Amino acid sequence: MILEGKPTRSITRTADGRGACILDQRLLPWEVRWVELRDADQAARAIREMWTRGAPMIGATAAYGLAMALAADPSDDSLATADAMLHATRPTAINLRWALDRVVETVRPLPPAQRAEAAFARADAICDEDAALCRAIGEHGLELLRALYARHPGRPLNILTHCNAGWLATVDYGTATAPIYLAHDAGIPVHVWVDETRPRNQGALLTAFELANHGVPHSVIADNAGGLLMMRGQVDAVIVGTDRVTANGDVCNKIGTYLKALAAYDNGVPFYVALPYTTFDPATQSGDAVPIEERDGNELAWLTGPTADGALASVRVTASPVRNPAFDITPARLVTGYITERGVLDRIG
Ligand code: MRU
Repeated sequence: MILEGKPTRSITRTADGRGACILDQRLLPWEVRWVELRDADQAARAIREMWTRGAPMIGATAAYGLAMALAADPSDDSLATADAMLHATRPTAINLRWALDRVVETVRPLPPAQRAEAAFARADAICDEDAALCRAIGEHGLELLRALYARHPGRPLNILTHCNAGWLATVDYGTATAPIYLAHDAGIPVHVWVDETRPRNQGALLTAFELANHGVPHSVIADNAGGLLMMRGQVDAVIVGTDRVTANGDVCNKIGTYLKALAAYDNGVPFYVALPYTTFDPATQSGDAVPIEERDGNELAWLTGPTADGALASVRVTASPVRNPAFDITPARLVTGYITERGVLDRIG
């Protein structure tokens, strides 16, 4: 990822190797602040309160969190307690369970004295693998975008995306954004319609921030604008990320994704889901069995942003009771293709 002109990863080990550094995403784009996570409790809090977020990033942060727990106490009890605490932070993204399992299977056969170092090394490997997977997703998606562009040469390719499935949500490149970054770097003119993604505005705040840092032309739109744009032929493809794809190909992603898929289907716009194998959940048959996180209603009832003097302030935007389901399910029948590290698949599972 390009951050303030420099190639950077969105999670790294701290300089002393005993913790993890993440960007505090609650402050973006207004402030770029790196935070050091120093123990498993902090890692769990950072995931639960969404200092960091996005399916692969949640997994990577939890993997380091487990390593930090083992550095403090490498016993079997400590391993089980920290694993349960980190797993309980957010219910929907399957990458969390996947990453914790990889660390647990690495350390369980080892004597306690060797566990922390092995866990940190496994967390590093999870991060390296995630960057490679996203790069491969980007390469396969690039060929897709190249073919779409060939159909409409001479004008920018318009891609619509929802939420943030970019490098902030992964270790590097992103999933949905990887094909966009690679297409832009290859000289294909791309313009991105960025859904604001209420209630937390991951599109308006995070995806737009990423695209601006990479120099990719983009426009933030209200979540309700996509249908009109598709109807008017102003969207060539929709590409979204996902928190979990079930055995039958159903896609669980940020609330509002399903409505985009319906609009795309009705208007003949291709709807692609970008994912690494770490987001595929073959053990869950279909989307109706995926736990949907219900988050605090204050995320919907309040909006936060800078005032004229630059200080962050919050305002209430409704006086009524609210509900805040955070994810929805897009049935497999609405998905044109899955952009994976192995290629673009028209069905999955
Ligand atoms: O609640 P969030 O911000 O963690 O939700 C994130 C998403 O829905 C992303 O689109 C998904 O995790 C894919 S990230 C590559």
